[in-house]
Amino acid sequence: MQIRDHWQLNPDIDFLNHGSFGACPRIVLQKQQELLTELEQDPIKFLAPERDLLPKLDQVRQTIAGLVKAPASDIAFVRNATDGVNAVLGSFPLKQNDEILITNHGYNACNNAARHVAEKAGAKVVVADIPFPLTSETDVMVAIENKITSRTRLILIDHVTSPTGLILPVEQVISLARTKNIRVLVDGAHAPGMIPLNLTALAPDYYTANHHKWLCGPKTSGFLFVQPELQTQVRPNVISHGANQDCSNRSRFLTEFDWIGTYDPTPLLTLPTAVAFLETLYPAGLSQLYQRNHESVVRARQVICDALQTDVPCNSEMLGSMASVPLHAKTSRSAGHTLATATLQRTLYQEHGLELPVFQLWDSGQWCLRISMHAYNQACQFERLACVLNHLTN
Ligand SMILES: Cc1ncc(COP(=O)(O)O)c(C=O)c1O
Repeated sequence: MQIRDHWQLNPDIDFLNHGSFGACPRIVLQKQQELLTELEQDPIKFLAPERDLLPKLDQVRQTIAGLVKAPASDIAFVRNATDGVNAVLGSFPLKQNDEILITNHGYNACNNAARHVAEKAGAKVVVADIPFPLTSETDVMVAIENKITSRTRLILIDHVTSPTGLILPVEQVISLARTKNIRVLVDGAHAPGMIPLNLTALAPDYYTANHHKWLCGPKTSGFLFVQPELQTQVRPNVISHGANQDCSNRSRFLTEFDWIGTYDPTPLLTLPTAVAFLETLYPAGLSQLYQRNHESVVRARQVICDALQTDVPCNSEMLGSMASVPLHAKTSRSAGHTLATATLQRTLYQEHGLELPVFQLWDSGQWCLRISMHAYNQACQFERLACVLNHLTN
């Protein structure tokens, strides 16, 4: 069996967009289906937190804790990274004239959440403009440092950026913030399953991520790590029974996040199957998976840049397993291709069976395309994309 056969992706499409919603392997979906059957055979036993659910959630917590190297007691579950970011922002003690620092590479939904809480508190959102293309991590740090003021209370920073696929220097951001008494919320939506994580060493104030992207868990599940001394402050987006439940044996932090009203816990409970599956794909386990996907995307980016006759926009050390390539003016303008750029994503999908995002970066009008490489992707897929791009732009 080839690795790609573990997924049920449509064979007629070259799927180069794992980054958007992930893709779930067959074995993981089978496990989820078994759990759903179990749930519906005996709903109370399965779902009542004091019966089977809590011990099962705690097992999953152990899996995540091992993967991200953090104490299980500091890890709550959320439905997705947007949920985790909103929970932290919604709970943050923001006052009038305080500032939240975000970046232009931040995920739009999460940056919107920052704007929402700032507006309610009479606070301000300040945007650090990280260039793209860029030379090194120094460009990121300069952009952030330039926008920190005495009123900055929180920095919302992506570990791996969505539009540009950059691994940002979150260690450096956290060190800098600590010297200035600023808290840091890391949006790590893409990080687990793409790069190794050690949250104990990183020591962010808050870190949230998805299980349904690079860990290939079923949609929808994710986690929120919060430092112990901040946990009493952080409340879920949905207030439920946990708010006044007896918490003598379990922190209110876990109690509140463990139950946000009736929900389907099977995406969460399937996570250990997904992690075990990824661990067995290559002899050296996850580290080999990360390395393989990284090398594939670096190679893919080079082949595409060659086809577009453009330079790579950042060094390959800043990449995990996603990369974006700017479609330069030369590409967009040549032979009436301005219109072609605006409709490129549709053309690639409908006429060539290639699925990947093509989008405009911020207000700059700069067009980009983004490729993702997971274990099921093969060189022939990005080589075909490069051929098609070459054909469309010449
Ligand atoms: C950096 C980043 N943050 C947050 C999200 C939101 O993920 P979700 O929709 O699963 O909450 C994404 C989704 O692509 C993302 O790339």
